Amino acid sequence: MNQPRRVENLHTDKGRVPVYATGIVEQPWDDYSADDHATWATLYARQREVLVGRACREFLDAQDAMGMTPGAIPKFSELNTVLEAATGWTLMGVEGLLPELDFFDHLANRRFPVTWWIRRPDQVDYIEEPDLFHDLFGHVPLLMNPLFADYMAAYGRGGVKAHAIGPDALAQLTRLYWYTVEFGLIRQDGALRIYGSGIVSSKTESIHALDSAAPNRIGFDLQRIMRTRYRIDTFQKTYFVIDSFAQLIDATAPDFTPIYARVDALGTVPAGAVLDDDHVDQRGSGEGWASDGDV
Ligand SMILES: [Fe+2]
Repeated sequence: MNQPRRVENLHTDKGRVPVYATGIVEQPWDDYSADDHATWATLYARQREVLVGRACREFLDAQDAMGMTPGAIPKFSELNTVLEAATGWTLMGVEGLLPELDFFDHLANRRFPVTWWIRRPDQVDYIEEPDLFHDLFGHVPLLMNPLFADYMAAYGRGGVKAHAIGPDALAQLTRLYWYTVEFGLIRQDGALRIYGSGIVSSKTESIHALDSAAPNRIGFDLQRIMRTRYRIDTFQKTYFVIDSFAQLIDATAPDFTPIYARVDALGTVPAGAVLDDDHVDQRGSGEGWASDGDV
């Protein structure tokens, strides 16, 4: 339950696309329909309206710098010109979620896999698996930031190592990704702002993450996060807040091997727990939390 679902070789009705042995797909830009571009436009305009004053400034600035607009689905090749010059990252098209080791290897080599297809119009409000909008609108802008770009590559290298160590290490590292890359908050100018891709690509969670009294908001702590379980099908019960992107780099610089052992010994923590040592921004009311399952 607490691992994202894997999708390999997803078959869609979006036309013919060349699939290579590596799983990399050339973005079939000419095959996007008017509906596809309209879905992008709807989501883009709606999220930008919600995110001004909510997303961190680096995120919004980077979207503008990359030339993302609601006008049409961006071409990966055009974004790559800007992105590669900024931080050495490139985007590559994929069918969907990759096997973990492939994903880590791409990140370690500064390649970010982007799902080439976009959700259907009736999926505008919710889609279970990552699509082009989540990957491109949500993940790619912060790859323009040198610190965040380094963090993502370090995460990829760490993932390759964790994969060799075993499933417990991998589960801990995946929690770090979840609570930073996907659902992280950052403090800027004395206020909380969003940087996590899972939040910025969802209208309802963008509001919930900052405005709701229900979730906990707790200061970033590497080991605490690596212990904290999560579920993928509801709003988060807890968000972790960083003070800067440099904090992510500093916290993840050490070798994780002894950290995995320590975290293993401490055991896992439910998603909604508040611990005595936590730096609590807000203790959540818990209103509306799903009570099924153990997270
Ligand atoms: Fe994601």
